[in-house]
Parts: sequence; structure tokens; C-alpha cells
Amino acid sequence: MIQQHSNGGGAGVAGPWLVRIPEVFATVGPEIVRRLSPTGATLLGTEFYLLKSSTAEAVTGPDTVLHVSWRLPVAHSWPCRPRTMEGFVEKAAQTLLRKFSGQPIQAILVGLLHGGTPNSYYKKLASNLRGRVLQLFPPLPVAEAESQHAGRPTLYCLLGPEGLYAGVASPVATNGFYPGGTKHLPHEAVDAISRAGAKVAEALHYLRLHRAALPKGAHWLELGASPGGMTAELLSKQFRVTAVDRAALDSRLDGMKGLTFVRGDALAFRAPAGVVYDGLLCDLNGGARESMMAVLSHRGALKSGAVVIFTLKLPGTESVAAALALRDEIVAMAGMGGLNLIAQTHLRANRREFTLFFADAGGSRPRAGTGADAERGASLRPRSGRAY
Ligand SMILES: C[S@@+](CC[C@H](N)C(=O)[O-])C[C@H]1O[C@@H](n2cnc3c(N)ncnc32)[C@H](O)[C@@H]1O
Repeated sequence: MIQQHSNGGGAGVAGPWLVRIPEVFATVGPEIVRRLSPTGATLLGTEFYLLKSSTAEAVTGPDTVLHVSWRLPVAHSWPCRPRTMEGFVEKAAQTLLRKFSGQPIQAILVGLLHGGTPNSYYKKLASNLRGRVLQLFPPLPVAEAESQHAGRPTLYCLLGPEGLYAGVASPVATNGFYPGGTKHLPHEAVDAISRAGAKVAEALHYLRLHRAALPKGAHWLELGASPGGMTAELLSKQFRVTAVDRAALDSRLDGMKGLTFVRGDALAFRAPAGVVYDGLLCDLNGGARESMMAVLSHRGALKSGAVVIFTLKLPGTESVAAALALRDEIVAMAGMGGLNLIAQTHLRANRREFTLFFADAGGSRPRAGTGADAERGASLRPRSGRAY
């Protein structure tokens, strides 16, 4: 039986949702689902949950936005076993046409409910379904995920042994250009300096949901650069990089064009007079508060509007509440120091950590390296140490 629901995902309107909670949070998955307040939930594959009825506020709210890495208001669900169903592709395509062809969509994308370990049967089925749907639909303005406008609606379909689930939403509303989230960027290349290279590649790709990419030649200040996976990725994109770390960079980066390496403490580093950065990348290990202090100590060397990409590392705890409290504290510190949060997510390349994106708020700023913003941010830190 084909089930059809109405779910525009509008404010206050409860409807079915498909959400992805990364497998790394599997143990706290049920707690995260509870925070989404559904009237029922079914796990599809290992990461997707079909929520029977939930509101946009719950799905995109501050208590869930970190752990829910992708979300789609479901307007068409067909729980079935595609493998055993004769004519599945044709039936599914005709239904999608009936249901969605009148809507002003920019693209149609079909992904897999079991994206991590794609089964070649379903991969082929998804490709066949998309091919047939594109034959049936009137021509669409956008042919592939990379060319989408972040704010315009796309028909996203997710397919797997559990059936077909589809809905219309913009990439920015779903939190990714692809069905299920951000582009999966492999980090297992034998010559990769570290897996962090894939993390920054994905972060820059993700950031296109929220603002235009920095141009080639833009200058990044990178705190916590060793061994240099992120540095290598930034240089490969023809950015300039000032990389700071107490430890050395991988020797493969020696003499690379566009790279300045400063061996030393991130808090002690001072930008040379007259140098301002277009972006700051912070991947320091250690405490999140100390890392944000280091970031804020460099605010005077950031251009107005500069982007800050901050890895929020979780100390060894499974607690959702503790992760949210730490996020709140770091975002408040940043805000007091003149950095506005523009996005927060769990990237596919993140493990037990999140990526926060800030923009320099402009306005008055301390001279580079005076640390006044860090001090202002620090005033928000709890005096009693909180254990996470
Ligand atoms: C996760 S690693 C960075 C990985 C790196 N981003 C990459 O792409 O390969 C964290 C780094 O932070 C550095 N670090 C931590 N605290 C620091 C500090 N206060 N000053 C300078 N470096 C620091 C460590 O030496 C370590 O190399």
C-alpha cells in the first residue's frame, strides 16, 4: 500500500519526518529521538529515523540541531520491499510524478537509506529510479547536486530495503546538498597526511549552504595544524595558510607555496603587523574553552565578516545534555567576543565532535593579539570547572 501524507514542514505543523542521526551517536539515538517529540519512530537502516509526527521546531530546534545531521519533511512514504516488487521503478516514478510534478522544484535527487555501506543493488535501483523520474518530469533547472541553489526546493528521495521516502525541501533546510546530508569525501587516501583533510574539505563544501566560498588566494589562520591534513587541503584549494602548532608539520608540506608555518603556542602567536585573515580554522585538541580563548585572542587579526570554522571536541562522555551545554557555553563565549554563530553540524568526517561555523560580527575590535576579546569571552566561563 502506498501511504501519502501532507507535510509541508511548516511552523507548528506536525507531520512525518525522516532524520539522520549519525551512527557515532547510536547509543544516545533513542534519547535524541525523544527530544524530537515524535508520536512514533522507526529506525530505517542504521542512521535514519522515520518520525511518525513531529514539528519543524522540534526537528530544527537548539536541542536537536547538533545531533540530527539531516532532516526531510516526508510528503510521500512507501514502506515496501523494492527488491521483491515487480515494476518497482515504474510504479515509484509514476507516483512521484503525480505527487510532485506541479511543485516548483529545482532538482530531483535519489539517495540511499544505507548510505554508509551502499549495496550495489540499491545503488543501481536509485540510479534507475532517478533516470526514469527525470524522463517523466518536465525539464528541471538543475541537473546535479553541486549546482543546486541552497535556498530553493529540491525533491529528495531516500531508497532502501525498507521502501521509498520522499519530500521537498531546500538544501539549507535539510542541512546538506545531498539526500542524507553532506557529500561523502573519502579520507582513506594512502597519501593523506591526516583524516582532518577530509573534514575541512567537507566543512568548506557544507559552508556553501550558508555563504559564498572564499576566493582563491584568501588567507587562513589555522590553529592546531600538525600534522597538516587540513593545511594540505587548504593549499590544494589555492588558499594561503598561516599554520600554527606546537608540533611540526609533515615534511611533505616543506616549502609549499602559500604556506607560513609558525611552531609555537596558538595563544602566544601574534599576527605580523598589517596581516589580516579571511578565515580562521581551529582544530586544537584539549579543552573547548581554551580553544575558543585562542580563537578570540586572534579576532583583531580577522577581517570584518571573516569565517571561523571551529571543531567542538567532546570530552569522553555520551551525554547529549553535556554536549549541548558545552556548545551553549562556547557559542556564548564566541558571541561575547564578537563572533556570531552561522551554522552548527556533525560532518560525516567528524567523530565524537561537531563543527561550529562563526562569522566575525565586524564593528569595534581589539588590535591584533591584544587578547581583549578573549578576555571578554572568558568572563562568561564558569568559575567552577564543569566536568564533561
Ligand atoms: C587534532 S590535532 C590537529 C590536526 C590537524 N588539524 C590536521 O589537519 O592534521 C590537534 C593539534 O593541536 C595542537 N595543539 C593543541 N593545543 C595547542 C596550543 N595551545 N598551541 C599550539 N598547538 C596546539 C596539537 O599539537 C595537535 O597537533
